[in-house]
Amino acid sequence: MKAVVLDKITEGKDIVLSDVPIPEVRPGWVLIKVKAFGLNHSEKLLRLGEIRADYIQKPIIPGIECVGEIVDPSDSELAVGQKVIALMGGMGRSFHGSYAEYALLPRRSVFTVDSSLSWEALGAVPETYFTAWGSLFECLHLTSDDTLLIRGATCALGYASIQIAKALGCKVIATTHREDKLPLIAEADEAIMDDGRLAGKVHGVTKALDLIGPRNLKNTLTAVEKGGIVCQTGLLGGVYALNGFDPIKDIPNGVYLTGFFSNYPTQQVMDEIFAFLHEKKLIPVSGEVFGFDEIREAVIAQDEGKVNGKIVVTL
Ligand SMILES: NC(=O)c1ccc[n+]([C@@H]2O[C@H](COP(=O)([O-])OP(=O)(O)OC[C@H]3O[C@@H](n4cnc5c(N)ncnc54)[C@H](OP(=O)(O)O)[C@@H]3O)[C@@H](O)[C@H]2O)c1
Repeated sequence: MKAVVLDKITEGKDIVLSDVPIPEVRPGWVLIKVKAFGLNHSEKLLRLGEIRADYIQKPIIPGIECVGEIVDPSDSELAVGQKVIALMGGMGRSFHGSYAEYALLPRRSVFTVDSSLSWEALGAVPETYFTAWGSLFECLHLTSDDTLLIRGATCALGYASIQIAKALGCKVIATTHREDKLPLIAEADEAIMDDGRLAGKVHGVTKALDLIGPRNLKNTLTAVEKGGIVCQTGLLGGVYALNGFDPIKDIPNGVYLTGFFSNYPTQQVMDEIFAFLHEKKLIPVSGEVFGFDEIREAVIAQDEGKVNGKIVVTL
């Protein structure tokens, strides 16, 4: 089969498709014919640095998510031809991932999908919609009464979160750090420029989804009302941890801080996401779709930040 195989730091321009054997099925693992996969910021982090870490299996086929069909269910109850979605749990890091024609994945990371959406549309869902859903509902307990601030909204996760929150009926305030990108978040009720300080620019925020991360987190905590919740999910600001964080002084009285980590998807949550998409007649949003033979162009587009939204690759 064709696959992208990495063993060292690799820029987009150096991505090639290699011929590798189709993986052999073993108990507890199922073989999937990959129909589409999305590109993720975390794969860029892997390619451009994390690949040096000891805990990364090398060589590694990257890709933390995919959609496809079961071709060999092994000892699982899944049927041949079953439409599935798969993500995380070590995919593309501790075992081979989805930048390939076939993926051998642990049964626990594979979820059935009952949807008539195209492969292209489904390909935008796994990591992005699972993370948006978990952040908004498991962490922020979002309801239609909320005013939701999405900080760093011009990313795949931001666009998906705007779509879900608007469909729920919330008021949405979305931010970008680039003035020319304000039109991209116009689906929000308010689209505002973010220079790192939101004081006086936002009002009545009851929930905040922070996709910039520790670089701005203290400021985000001051932007929500008493009783509000901040969910730290993204790291777009390039700062990954907060030294000197003083919870007593940095978290305002009566404000709550939580974080979301997408490593633990479940069938129940996947079913909830697809039921919501179906009920609200939402088509998952992608920025650009590439063929598998264009994987190099897709990754270059990711490195250069050329695509606004989820990059989906179809096979
Ligand atoms: N917690 C979790 O489990 C989890 C799961 C999935 C993703 N994430 C994180 O969520 C974030 C978004 O992921 P994604 O896959 O949706 O990303 P993505 O679509 O690849 O987004 C990348 C884009 O974000 C934009 N961006 C917006 N505000 C930015 C800022 N302040 N600084 C730098 N770039 C900014 C950049 O475009 P412009 O600069 O042109 O606006 C960049 O092109 C990432 O940090 C990712 O690691 C976390």
